[in-house]
Amino acid sequence: MTLTAQRRTVTATYPSAAAAASAAVDVIDELLRAGALRNLGVATGSSPSPVYREMARRRIDLSAVTLFALDEYIGLPAGHPETYRAVVEREIAEPLAVPRARVHLPDGDDPEAYDDLIAARGGIDLQILGIGRNGHIGFNEPGSSFDSRTRVVDLDASTRAANARFFDDPDDVPRRSVTQGIGTILEARRLIVVVSGAEKAAAVAAAIDGPRTEAMPASVLREHPDVTWLLDEAAASHLSSRSLRDRVGA
Ligand code: F6R
Repeated sequence: MTLTAQRRTVTATYPSAAAAASAAVDVIDELLRAGALRNLGVATGSSPSPVYREMARRRIDLSAVTLFALDEYIGLPAGHPETYRAVVEREIAEPLAVPRARVHLPDGDDPEAYDDLIAARGGIDLQILGIGRNGHIGFNEPGSSFDSRTRVVDLDASTRAANARFFDDPDDVPRRSVTQGIGTILEARRLIVVVSGAEKAAAVAAAIDGPRTEAMPASVLREHPDVTWLLDEAAASHLSSRSLRDRVGA
């Protein structure tokens, strides 16, 4: 069997972001019941938030799971509510009873150690991803190498503008972050990309239907052997009819 034949990309469209989130939780629940989810990679931001809320609502038990965040800002004071450590603890670890010792984030002072830690713990079983309007995954902005590892990066002006909604003053948005590399993300055994909203529709279509190019980081995801795109109607609205064939639930 060729590698191509082994690849599995599912693109599923739901009537709402809540329904897409519920589908993500179904996958998580199934993996947990099968004993196949020890290490969960988590994205922060608006798109995956409903997934974590739905997990809490369904009382999904993550107490034996280790969390690995995708990225972390550089330059915010420790304890700032918008550090991704604070967000992951507030939105995921606390409601889902994950002990603090099992919550890991990359450290800008020693980025490579993160890849080593992930590998030493046996790799990420399931990585939840969102994508940026510019197609970034993690904070791998356009132009990032598909081979990149966890490292410190500059944030694009468009990313800083998009994330200004979380800060009192747009100038407070950090200029740099530490992010899992694209190569690191691709090593997760399974990927779920949760995307909602019309402002992501062009990036979703470019990632799924457009050329494979480092100018569109999410276009690399088609190389992964097991990736599931869970989209609401608005995020799916620019997809080709071929990619829309897996439309469900509407
Ligand atoms: C967050 C992350 C980013 C976000 C992306 C979309 O940990 O790595 O790639 O997933 O910026 O963010 P939202 O969902 O807030 O639009």
